[in-house]
Amino acid sequence: EKGGYDTFMLKEIFEQPSTLRDCLRGRIVDNCRRVTLSGVDLNQERFKSAERITLVACGTSWHAALIGKRLIQDFCKMPVEVEYASEFRYGNPVLNEKDIVISISQSGETADTLAAIELAKAKGAFVYGICNVVGASIPRTTDSGTYIHVGPEIGVASTKAFTGQVTVLTLLALSVGHLRGAIDDATLHEVLSALDKIPETIEEALKVDTEVKKLSRIFSYAHNFLYLGRGYNYPTALEGALKLKEISYIHAEGYPAAEMKHGPIALIDHDMPSVIIAPSDSLYDKIISNVQQVKSRGGAVVAIVSKGNKAMNDIADFCIEIPEVPECLTPLVASIPLQLLAYYIAVNKGKDVDQPRNLAKSVTVE
Ligand code: F6R
Repeated sequence: EKGGYDTFMLKEIFEQPSTLRDCLRGRIVDNCRRVTLSGVDLNQERFKSAERITLVACGTSWHAALIGKRLIQDFCKMPVEVEYASEFRYGNPVLNEKDIVISISQSGETADTLAAIELAKAKGAFVYGICNVVGASIPRTTDSGTYIHVGPEIGVASTKAFTGQVTVLTLLALSVGHLRGAIDDATLHEVLSALDKIPETIEEALKVDTEVKKLSRIFSYAHNFLYLGRGYNYPTALEGALKLKEISYIHAEGYPAAEMKHGPIALIDHDMPSVIIAPSDSLYDKIISNVQQVKSRGGAVVAIVSKGNKAMNDIADFCIEIPEVPECLTPLVASIPLQLLAYYIAVNKGKDVDQPRNLAKSVTVE
């Protein structure tokens, strides 16, 4: 049942090309010019007249929500907020009929997310669910939604569900953006063409496996890690840090790279490595200076860079290359080496990656 892999987590990491193919199936149409998501298509008026979208979730799903915020802002040009479900439900949220609340949950059973949905519905918002487990409590409670269809996720640390959530959020942002006339046809076609090929691109990204495994040996005994990213990859940094914490029990902090100098930079020394996500995107020049700030304080840097970027070799200690994709899709690809790095570090430390201590696959208590 582990398909020849040592653990469910490794199987689920390597399964991502096929789970994303399942997630995308039938949803990109007209030769990469249109998206069909029945949840959006059947509720066009709600999506057209909405004045704001609020994303609510917990944990890894909340990280996907942060990426969703950027996608919706870029492609729908409308205001978006992201809240932890547990904070939203007790935060007296101001909502009305012009609001759409999108809840994201792999299990569909997370108690705080379910309570947030019930509150949003009571206040008149239209509630849309992005879920994996078919027929779970959340999809039964929401007004409409989309399944990510990545198959059962057994490993407690979420991997394939995260990339499925980000993929569905991309489809949703493109679909709603088109409906609202906020995205031009050329951009829509460009992103959809790249998204349509993402299963093959992830296949390519997974080839860093051996290299990451080797690298993991150098860093298995660090007590603290910093994960840095900007823009689309600030949430990727948070997710990379969470994966490491969950399964290796190493303290790791994810941070927006530019915020580092407002505090966490004090922590950097020879014993604290940083993982910096630096694809060749609109913020590349900015992140280079963040890499230099870490290096000049003696910190080791593992940089995740776009294929062919040799210049970073002169600055960072180690570079891991990922395939080049449009900026909005970089989190999907950059997540792959981060999942593998957390995985191999935990395995080197002899941890049970599928059943990490103190964690449950579905959190049904608040
Ligand atoms: C992280 C992880 C948790 C879940 C969180 C929400 O690897 O698994 O942080 O993401 O408990 O769970 P769902 O998505 O089922 O609502």
